[in-house]
Amino acid sequence: MDITLKSAAEIAQMREAGRIAAGVLEFIGPHMLPGAVTLELDEMMNDYIQKQGAVSADLGYHGYPRYTCISVNEVVCHGIPSTHRLRRGDIVNVDITVIKDGMHGDTSKMFIIGETSLRSRKLCECAQQCLYAGIREVYPGADLTQIGNAIQKIADKAGFSVVRDYCGHGIGRHFHEDPQVLHYRNQQSVILQEGMTFTIEPMINAGTWKCKISKKDGWTVTTADHQPSAQWEHTLAVTADGCEILTLRGEEKIPQHVVNLTKH
Ligand code: MF3
Ligand code: CO
Ligand code: CO
Repeated sequence: MDITLKSAAEIAQMREAGRIAAGVLEFIGPHMLPGAVTLELDEMMNDYIQKQGAVSADLGYHGYPRYTCISVNEVVCHGIPSTHRLRRGDIVNVDITVIKDGMHGDTSKMFIIGETSLRSRKLCECAQQCLYAGIREVYPGADLTQIGNAIQKIADKAGFSVVRDYCGHGIGRHFHEDPQVLHYRNQQSVILQEGMTFTIEPMINAGTWKCKISKKDGWTVTTADHQPSAQWEHTLAVTADGCEILTLRGEEKIPQHVVNLTKH
């Protein structure tokens, strides 16, 4: 395991990358409507990213063909924007990773298209609560295992499952760095230190946690049982007394600086 600690100057750069990534999600919100074509949303988001002086990290990453990931209903992650039109009742994850001055910012959220079923709404809410519970376990001296344990507890209580095939990740000059951040109950101990930067991005399924990858495109990940899936993601920096959310949006109630040494 080779975890790079970031300096204050590097975190300042990541704050800027994170701010732009969060801004993309705020920008696209009003366009997430019935009838929207996901390829057009992808193009609009890329125009926005370019105007901010950043670039998409997704395009060309291991051959990924588009600027963003848009994952609808039973798509768990890595949905490729296409000529598909959104419909009322869809639940949609938009996942954005940008590079600004060599640093990555990675974030995603769920959008509900019009109105959806109570169960789908609960799933989206649960996945966001899972992310927030994970964030509250991030402070120097904490163990990375606390994140997965906290998330699993919330998903279990709601009767949902936690995806095991994909995890959060260290982030900085590289898109995916050490450590791996598991979202399910685990014993992969890593003690957190100030200056670590990583994502938490729980994928929560209504039914089984098992997933499959499309044989057609090699990217699209769907639930094995075709039940819906929800995901929210933030990029975080471990601070002296907790963590800073580098990709916070204006609509969120959680503070940018989450203080958490009171636990000890
Ligand atoms: N943004 C995703 C993550 O959270 C990764 C997307 S990789 C891509 O790690 F190639 F599909 F874009
Ligand atoms: Co990520
Ligand atoms: Co992401």
